[in-house]
Amino acid sequence: MFPFDRLIAIDKNSKKPIYLQIAFILSEAIRNGVLQAGTPIPSSRDLAKQLNLHRKTIVAAYEELSAQEWITVVPRKKTVVSSNIPILQPKKWNSEQTLRPYENPMQAPFKKQQVIGLQKDNRLAEIIIDDGRPDIRISPIDLLLKTYRSLIQRRYATQNLEQNMAQGSLALRTELVTYLAESRGLNSTIDNLLITSGAQMSIYLSSQLLLERGDFIIVGTPNYPMANQVFQQSGGRLIEVDVDQYGLDVDQVEKHCQNQPVKAVYVIPHHHYPTTVTLSVERRMKLLSLSKKYHFVIIEDDYDYDYHYSSSPYLPLATAQHRGNIIYIGSFSKVLDPSLRIGFMVASKNFIDQAVIFRKMIDIGGDGYMQDALAGLIREGELKRHLKKSKRIYQLRKDHLDQLLREQLSPYISYRIPSGGMAIWVGVDPQYPLFQLRQLALTLGLQINDINETHNAFRFGFASLHEKDLSSAIAILSKCFNQLSKTIETI
Ligand SMILES: Cc1ncc(COP(=O)(O)O)c(C=O)c1O
Repeated sequence: MFPFDRLIAIDKNSKKPIYLQIAFILSEAIRNGVLQAGTPIPSSRDLAKQLNLHRKTIVAAYEELSAQEWITVVPRKKTVVSSNIPILQPKKWNSEQTLRPYENPMQAPFKKQQVIGLQKDNRLAEIIIDDGRPDIRISPIDLLLKTYRSLIQRRYATQNLEQNMAQGSLALRTELVTYLAESRGLNSTIDNLLITSGAQMSIYLSSQLLLERGDFIIVGTPNYPMANQVFQQSGGRLIEVDVDQYGLDVDQVEKHCQNQPVKAVYVIPHHHYPTTVTLSVERRMKLLSLSKKYHFVIIEDDYDYDYHYSSSPYLPLATAQHRGNIIYIGSFSKVLDPSLRIGFMVASKNFIDQAVIFRKMIDIGGDGYMQDALAGLIREGELKRHLKKSKRIYQLRKDHLDQLLREQLSPYISYRIPSGGMAIWVGVDPQYPLFQLRQLALTLGLQINDINETHNAFRFGFASLHEKDLSSAIAILSKCFNQLSKTIETI
């Protein structure tokens, strides 16, 4: 018999489980011709004895080899090296192979888009200032998952498959009709609703359906960069208008409409991204009347409507009379968890019908179980309870951050407290380039995710950070400003 005990050298310090080490060594011996087709392999009991290992370890190794077809087990007889050796089969435990990159870069021409935002830092800092994300620690995710699991167990699958999943679960659309009417006075039916994978997919679909090559679309500047990218990718030409403390400058919108046909205006009326300002009532009225006069479509991105602190939020533009020319977009990712990819679009039925066809081309349908589970959360009043609780917590965090900024960083920064949302837009004195500040903060364990170098400003997401983390973040920033001040003085 082949001296298997000498062939198989186990590395007890390796992180790789012993049964995988054995499987790897034996497969390499087969691959290299050391073990020929038909060679008998010792029984698991014998090999276990030879190697002084538990029999179960050898059985697991043999199972792995058998699954990969390196060996053939003849029940109650013997195990031999397979005659059809699976040379081309990938072996996940062969790390050298799996780590090799996928051949050469693509040679054929293909479309390329610029990466938006900063390249991700591989090294994760202790504290991360995000661009305004919810605190998933307080989200009712457990409840959602419990419902999700029970839906799967009850095999709702067949029912879901019968529905038009590309438009979204009937249960969620039904709940949303009431939810949107109660929370923001929006009139709709289930036919006016499309559930999408986050608000982002709604922006993409609207853009695909509306814009022909060369069409003009008006956006604010600065703007949510991913929307700009989508509009340009669809062939749209961006016209940028200013955004001040009252939101999008609608007088500039009017001037542009007088000069050229404008197909659409993209607006984020509650808490414009990135500057967080709210579109004033006067400007809302004017934008609506301009839309009627110049026949442009309003894409109303109301992605964080649900978080308002100082007063009641304004009703969406889509709530007003508008002859069907408003596409209203919302999201649950900002309410529950950014990884929960559920957003929605409300529009006229003829538009939604086409959007469903387009959506199907990239995604046959969303996660029906999750959508049904969310419908349950809304139906049971859990979503409302969560919103009430999280709003209270976020307001405290916002106030705490406001105090810290005022007390410790006021010589270096300027900001306005937003009426809602989950971030404060912090402008930094141009003497302190944000890029440098960011690098320095990173060395002290603080990562700032969303900086705007043109405006030397960044979004300080407060919702996801405990008050103690907010305090630590400000202490680090204060240190960084002090250090940079010294450098500036010496220049
Ligand atoms: C202004 C704006 N619109 C839309 C989105 C996309 O939201 P979702 O995560 O629901 O796709 C974001 C995400 O941050 C956003 O900032």
